Amino acid sequence: MDLDLQQPILFVGGKGGVGKSTTAASLAFAAASGGKQVLLVSTDPAHNLGDIFNCSIGTGRKQVADRLSVIEVDAAHEADAYIKGVKDNLSGLVKSSLVEEVNRQMDMAKTSPGAEEAALFDRIVSIILEEQDRFDHIIFDTAPTGHTVRLLSLPELMGVWMDGMLERRRKTNQNYSQLLNDGEPIEDPIFDVLMKRREKFERAREILLDHAKTGFIFVLNPEKLPIEETKKAIAQLEPFHMHIDTLVINKVLPQQAEGEFFHKRKQIEKRYLEEIDRAFSDKKLFYVPLFSEDMSDVEGLSRYAQFLTSLPPVK
Ligand SMILES: Nc1ncnc2c1ncn2[C@@H]1O[C@H](COP(=O)(O)OP(=O)(O)OP(=O)(O)O)[C@@H](O)[C@H]1O
Ligand SMILES: [Mg+2]
Repeated sequence: MDLDLQQPILFVGGKGGVGKSTTAASLAFAAASGGKQVLLVSTDPAHNLGDIFNCSIGTGRKQVADRLSVIEVDAAHEADAYIKGVKDNLSGLVKSSLVEEVNRQMDMAKTSPGAEEAALFDRIVSIILEEQDRFDHIIFDTAPTGHTVRLLSLPELMGVWMDGMLERRRKTNQNYSQLLNDGEPIEDPIFDVLMKRREKFERAREILLDHAKTGFIFVLNPEKLPIEETKKAIAQLEPFHMHIDTLVINKVLPQQAEGEFFHKRKQIEKRYLEEIDRAFSDKKLFYVPLFSEDMSDVEGLSRYAQFLTSLPPVK
């Protein structure tokens, strides 16, 4: 059984250091080698895709191998750009006496908790909408855990909130146009901005909640905390109809590890592997051994990918 790369959009999540970036990069590399057009979106500044693919990446979309392009997204930079975008949008719309106050509010918003995630989410949505026609697969190396889960649910919350805003705005306009414009509709730039945003979230929501379009893979190690984290992520995502149906269990001690030390570690690991089997019996499980080296080049990635895309999973 191969890891199912049916969906055009794939999110790879998991606890810190378990192997998310390696999994995302090797799946992307394998799919591209198999003839698909693939976009890998990395949100991890530490994960040096440039080194792996032997080129410099910088900002924007960059082709790093045949049929494989990469975008590196930096959350702090996105927050800056996001706030600037909102400021620019508003500056033409509010009275000049208010611009300074609006800017002050926006600068405060930038440092508030969750601002980077919100900006990141906005960017993810834009990437999906702008790039989906160009690629067979867009693979995101980012975990929809914690804050991000709430943000992924935002399209739902946002819908209700924006409906209210749009309705109020529409009513105000009707009143004004009756009063000022002989009943002719008047142009309202704020209404347009709200409407565009609403449409964007609406389209993203349809894609993210559609199982045929979006898949979620979680990576974990056979250890206590990653198992707990995975359980939590599944419990958080399922209520929003986002199903994690595939798990990659990475860094499993290899058969050939011998000696008293490894014997003991393997005993402990065995218990965790059993727990994984029990707790995630309804998921597709793929196992990747701990290698003697880091996956720091294309060769490493393709060695890693062997365990996901061609060899059957150990059950
Ligand atoms: N099966 C493996 N065997 C040996 N090394 C591995 C294996 N999987 C990943 N690594 C190495 O472990 C390190 C962490 O992996 P990776 O960067 O993919 O994790 P991550 O989950 O993306 O981490 P972060 O949460 O920091 O983004 C890397 O140096 C990677 O090369
Ligand atoms: Mg990473």
